[in-house]
Amino acid sequence: MKRKNFIKTTAAAGIGTAMFPNLILGNTSNSTRVRMGFIGTGLRGQWVLWLAAKYPEVDIPAICDIDDGMIASALKILKDAGKPEPAVYKEGDEDFRRMVKHEKLDGVYIATPWEWHAEMSLASMNAGIHVGTEVPAALTVDECWDLVNTSESTGKFCMIMENVCFRRDVMAVLNMVRDGLFGELLHCQGGYQHDLRHVKFNDGKQPYGGGVEFGTKGYSEAKWRTQHSVNRNGDLYPTHGLGPVSTMLDINRGNRLLRLTSTATQSRGLHNYIVKHGGKDHPNTKVNFKLGDIVTTVIKCANGETILLSHDTNSPRPYSLNFRVQGTNGIWMRDNQSIYIEDRSPEPHIWESDETYLQEYDHPLWKKFENEAAGSGHGGMDFFIVRAFIEAVKRDIAPPIDVYDSVSMSVICPLSEKSIANNSSSIEIPDFTRGKWKNNKPIFGLTDDI
Ligand SMILES: NC(=O)c1ccc[n+]([C@@H]2O[C@H](COP(=O)([O-])OP(=O)(O)OC[C@H]3O[C@@H](n4cnc5c(N)ncnc54)[C@H](O)[C@@H]3O)[C@@H](O)[C@H]2O)c1
Repeated sequence: MKRKNFIKTTAAAGIGTAMFPNLILGNTSNSTRVRMGFIGTGLRGQWVLWLAAKYPEVDIPAICDIDDGMIASALKILKDAGKPEPAVYKEGDEDFRRMVKHEKLDGVYIATPWEWHAEMSLASMNAGIHVGTEVPAALTVDECWDLVNTSESTGKFCMIMENVCFRRDVMAVLNMVRDGLFGELLHCQGGYQHDLRHVKFNDGKQPYGGGVEFGTKGYSEAKWRTQHSVNRNGDLYPTHGLGPVSTMLDINRGNRLLRLTSTATQSRGLHNYIVKHGGKDHPNTKVNFKLGDIVTTVIKCANGETILLSHDTNSPRPYSLNFRVQGTNGIWMRDNQSIYIEDRSPEPHIWESDETYLQEYDHPLWKKFENEAAGSGHGGMDFFIVRAFIEAVKRDIAPPIDVYDSVSMSVICPLSEKSIANNSSSIEIPDFTRGKWKNNKPIFGLTDDI
């Protein structure tokens, strides 16, 4: 795979063109048409479909789902966008294979339950199609290796659609890191701290949850996501926290994740929710949830840094991705919206607001596409991840988040489960780059293009 318009490593250059050596001025993307397929047109898939359908050069000749209601909503989105009606593949769980084989697609976007992502990505790459898969890309170590091997052998990319990498504050902090503001990085934190109880128990009768049912009686993610909390104890959703700090720490590009330990609390939140909303005699009170309410993972990196990840989805709490970035010169903490930089912050030991820093270091991508990103979802970051995928497919270039990133973020799921099952023992993280991390150069966020 080639990567045009590309990128040297950053070092501690100043903000501006010095830091973006191959800055592309203006939108150079040509009007080549791309044919995109969609597997999974549930709530997330529909949102991304709506975003993708805004691009005049994107044709969407085929969609695949197994739920008639979700398909009907997707067809309406395409109709409202003025796109021709696509072929619909809906003959059961394996029908996606027919779609990737028979449709001549350039790219496929996958937004199905987690357990399908790897299989669907593999089938697509083997059919000669670039992949954008929702998070996580895989659930087992073997699946991670399969994705790497298949991407390498087919020359097709597998991009995890980790939208938080494109969050505006996160990209500004990435610029601060690359500008040397924090000195040498020591420690980063991130996590998925989101009260999802109304998502895990959702009968579809109200817009935001309702009831205490899941599985076949559930709607959208309650149909499948809740079962993962019954079966598994680990960090089930590490990528929103790990993706952004991976770019800051040059993971797979001069650095790598070496090993982790994970520890889980007792499991209380989902059971308590059922009792509170369904009554103590509801049959689901007998369900034994394996997932600890709060799972904490610590990762050691090859260059010495540590990463702390938290998974916290079953308790009453406001949303937070728990970002903290700390180096030898200072620290940023998202939840405090505050920063402290030695010899720059006005008073020793006193936090200052991060606001002026976020403005000063605002990323060129955000400056360029601020208006287009408005209203695109999740504070604008969905615009960037969808655009990056479409542009990479269109130009047939490597995406800014590649297969090695996809699997190094996702492999935390099975390895954290293994650590917890073994009394928080230390688990080695495979080097999916097979040593290439030592010479690979950073690729994310180095242009104002994708
Ligand atoms: N990046 C983000 O911010 C973000 C946000 C929401 C969801 N997600 C991820 O997106 C994915 C989908 O989540 P969702 O909220 O849309 O869930 P959902 O349940 O609403 O949608 C999943 C869809 O997949 C379909 N499906 C299931 N098995 C299938 C199969 N074998 N073939 C074809 N279709 C199949 C279902 O019928 C459903 O319509 C998940 O991985 C989730 O974690 C990511």
